[in-house]
Amino acid sequence: MIRAFTRKFRRESLGRRAKAAYDSALMATTAPGIDDVRARTFPFPSRHFISALDLDRVVLGDLLDLADGFVALNREKSKKLDLLKGRTLMNLFFENSTRTQSSFELAGKRLGADVVNMSPRASSMAKGETLIDTAVTLNAMRPDLLVVRHSSSGAASLLAQKVGCSVINAGDGQHEHPTQALLDALSIRRSLGRVEGLTVAICGDVLHSRVARSNVLMLQILGARVRLVGPATLMPAGVDRWGAEVFHDLRQGISGVDVVMMLRLQLERMTGALVPSTREYFRFYGLDREKLAHAAPGAKVMHPGPMNRGVEIDSDVADDLSISLIQDQVEMGVAVRMAVLASLAARLDND
Ligand code: NCD
Repeated sequence: MIRAFTRKFRRESLGRRAKAAYDSALMATTAPGIDDVRARTFPFPSRHFISALDLDRVVLGDLLDLADGFVALNREKSKKLDLLKGRTLMNLFFENSTRTQSSFELAGKRLGADVVNMSPRASSMAKGETLIDTAVTLNAMRPDLLVVRHSSSGAASLLAQKVGCSVINAGDGQHEHPTQALLDALSIRRSLGRVEGLTVAICGDVLHSRVARSNVLMLQILGARVRLVGPATLMPAGVDRWGAEVFHDLRQGISGVDVVMMLRLQLERMTGALVPSTREYFRFYGLDREKLAHAAPGAKVMHPGPMNRGVEIDSDVADDLSISLIQDQVEMGVAVRMAVLASLAARLDND
């Protein structure tokens, strides 16, 4: 009996040792050090990051690899690097934001930049005029990187023409939000091992969503098939030219897909009543377990946040960590923004 116990004890501690060796081998491959991240950093292909179309498939792959390195570093106790040392990052958010603004701030600080947050109040002046005035004033302070969010589509691109620094689009009206698409691609790749060949359904308020636009473009560049699902009133004109299959029935639209990406019902952007009521909307377009059962086995659920629980998504699905990538998306947000900032700064260093 004692001998059997000793054997069992030895087997268990051997198992523990083997596991520790396995874990440390895994750490060595998945947690590149600072030198690896430095070696992976490459100059961004353009001076600004305005649209998903600024990147091709090869560069996207390299950026995601670099971001993987930052994910590993962000899980370490000491997260501070000097890739942006001496650089000034300005966060210019004309629209409210929690996760995007704070993740750019963290990303800049972890890379050693000086970070300034500005949230100018929406002005009653013509938007173009306000924006240009602000841009010229800020430019005189000589920032190196300017992260901008604005309620007008095209604002980031307009600003890029007026300033001498690199501009990153953190959401311009209903147009694009390219770093969101990048963090979504990273979340998918880490969870399902690839993006190419997967089918992703983007569901809900496509009409008002810059997240949808950037994701359709980026996912297609990465070789995924994209479906758009939502009521006809929430589909933009010309959606048939986006290269995505359009569905108006949620169960059909997510049938057999690998990823279900839910969008927030953007009530603040709606000028008329485009949905009868939020209760009615949930009945037809809210994702719950019953509807999710139509997706492929093992399908993952995403949402860029902030979520309207009980409107486009049921808490039961959103909070189930075995299917929901929503928390991962927030973590990946910091890593991809570090990758973009490091890469843009490498380009500035070369200019
Ligand atoms: C999105 C945005 O602001 O465009 N959110 C985000 O960046 N986390 C989506 C949304 O507001 O619904």
